[in-house]
Amino acid sequence: MSLYPSETVDRALKVTLASCRAKKERGEKISCLTAYDYPFARLFDEAGVDILLVGDSWGMASAGLENTLAVTMEEMLIAARAVRRGARRALVVADMPFGSYHVGAAPAVENAIRLVKEAGAEAVKLEGGESRAAVIASIVGAEVPVMAHIGLTPQSVHRQSGYHVQGVTQAAADQLLRDADAVQAAGAFSVVLEGVPRELAAAITRRLAIPAIGIGAGPECDGQVLVMHDLLGLSFRPQPKFVRAYAELAQQVRGAAEAFRMEVEGGTFPADGESYHLPKAASVTLPAAR
Ligand code: KIV
Repeated sequence: MSLYPSETVDRALKVTLASCRAKKERGEKISCLTAYDYPFARLFDEAGVDILLVGDSWGMASAGLENTLAVTMEEMLIAARAVRRGARRALVVADMPFGSYHVGAAPAVENAIRLVKEAGAEAVKLEGGESRAAVIASIVGAEVPVMAHIGLTPQSVHRQSGYHVQGVTQAAADQLLRDADAVQAAGAFSVVLEGVPRELAAAITRRLAIPAIGIGAGPECDGQVLVMHDLLGLSFRPQPKFVRAYAELAQQVRGAAEAFRMEVEGGTFPADGESYHLPKAASVTLPAAR
């Protein structure tokens, strides 16, 4: 029951940590999409998507970077602010970029607080399992909810020698189980499982009380996340097999831009109806046309 009855209707619909946990307990799936700006955040929110993740995938999807390592706090803050403005119902989670939580608990907590205080994020996400448990506990201890991220962790692209499915040996599978236990024990409210064999992801999902959100981790996870450019057919890289494109916007965007260019070149845009005219009563004298 809300303390603030006037907010009851809206707040009842608002996605929160508690409602995500309740969804898992009821066996209902959680939907999560990345978003990096106001219009897409607003559209995904209106579509009823539960979680908007301001991913550092922004660096690759929107800024054309080779990997996510160069993404900065300032860039995440700008993106997260815009997404926050577009979201009414969805939970907004902002990624902590590489370097923002790796050099000690104190700067990690400071950066997590910046994402909440300066951008309005409701939670942060960071990559790593057992080795990041202490940092997760510190951030949670500062009242900032944490979504963990284990398995294929793109910020570890060099250590993991590229983007490969993780947990495919006994030792690696055991480590992933320990990572899942460690992030839950540290207080994470959910965990992203990326690039994990379906069977192992299913075992982790069953084992955890917190929701496990999969990407390339099979259908048994408590929810699924996709990068919005992959969902919409706006990606230029070859797509991994876990991606399903629900639209082909690249073709539509190229088509619209080409039609615009041709109409500008042909002089048919803008038409008279798309132009302003001097008011009849205006007494403006113009030079004669040559
Ligand atoms: O940065 C991101 O978008 C992510 C998701 C792919 C989980 O980490």
